[in-house]
Amino acid sequence: MDRTPDTVAAVDWEAHCREAVAAYDAATTTAELEEAHVHYLGRKAALPQALRGVRDRETGMTLNAGRRTIEEAEAEARTRLDRGAVAGDYDVTLPGEAPRRGRLHLITQIRREVEDVFLGLGYEVVDGREVETTHYNFDALNFPGWHPARSPGDSFFLDETRVLRTETSPSQIRTMEERGGPPIYMITTGRVYRRENVDATHTQTFHQVEGLAIDEGITLADLKGTLLHFMRAIFGPERRVRFRTHYFPFTEPSIEPDVSCFLCDGAGCSVCKHSGWLEMGGAGMVDPALFEFVDASAYDPEKVSGFAFGLGLERIALLRHGLPDIRLLWANDLRVLGQF
Ligand code: PHE
Repeated sequence: MDRTPDTVAAVDWEAHCREAVAAYDAATTTAELEEAHVHYLGRKAALPQALRGVRDRETGMTLNAGRRTIEEAEAEARTRLDRGAVAGDYDVTLPGEAPRRGRLHLITQIRREVEDVFLGLGYEVVDGREVETTHYNFDALNFPGWHPARSPGDSFFLDETRVLRTETSPSQIRTMEERGGPPIYMITTGRVYRRENVDATHTQTFHQVEGLAIDEGITLADLKGTLLHFMRAIFGPERRVRFRTHYFPFTEPSIEPDVSCFLCDGAGCSVCKHSGWLEMGGAGMVDPALFEFVDASAYDPEKVSGFAFGLGLERIALLRHGLPDIRLLWANDLRVLGQF
């Protein structure tokens, strides 16, 4: 007599599995998927029922393999339907939009580089103000009454006593007042304003770096060594520096420093207009009159001396990168600014 329980033997499990897989494959909605689940894997479904009654190993293995096949078909169908639901809203397989990465403006980069050079020499970086009084912008800096910068034709006045600073030099006076005595080794950077006719080399707003060193025994040689160090840091280790005499109300003697052309090394080229040298701003020994203005007992002109310098950041940027027009730095054209 055959003792095998006919509930198990009577079913063609291979055909049953094929039918289940086909049902899952055909499901196009979650409802159909759930229906297939109840029918083939639910508590009362034929295969799980049969599995519960299995006694022999061989049948158990056959049925378990069948259940795995059906479960895989179900998982596949679920993934397919989930993806379809999402695809209705947006296509997750499209490449994303990468956020555009910003960068620092060239002038900001140069400013930070300049600050780094002087921080490395032990200078501190101080802040100035862009709206100045005529006292700090002119009087305390020893500007004579006839100086053209005092006229509204050259400078932007807010009223009789206030002016958009025409240079960063007022911070020399403010720093001396604040510190109350030597030593001082400071630089400051920022915007200055002049009533210029705008062209390839002039804008009405531009940036300067101002330096001031005050101590006992400071000489013109210290100024030259400091500027040489700076020019080499910015324009390369082979640079040389020379001084030409000049006039500023607040320095005596006053000079204009030149740096040997970094492109032709002095041989002459279009960057240096065939002179071999590049003009780099103004400088000089602090005029003792400034010490008198601030506090002659704290800064005794008999003992204390110092130097000051002022350089244009735009000029450094234009020269170093061969930019043909200063206005490019203000036009905010990303095709230009993105190159630096
Ligand atoms: N303030 C001067 C200018 O803008 C530059 C300068 C600074 C000169 C410090 C001497 C000392 O032209």
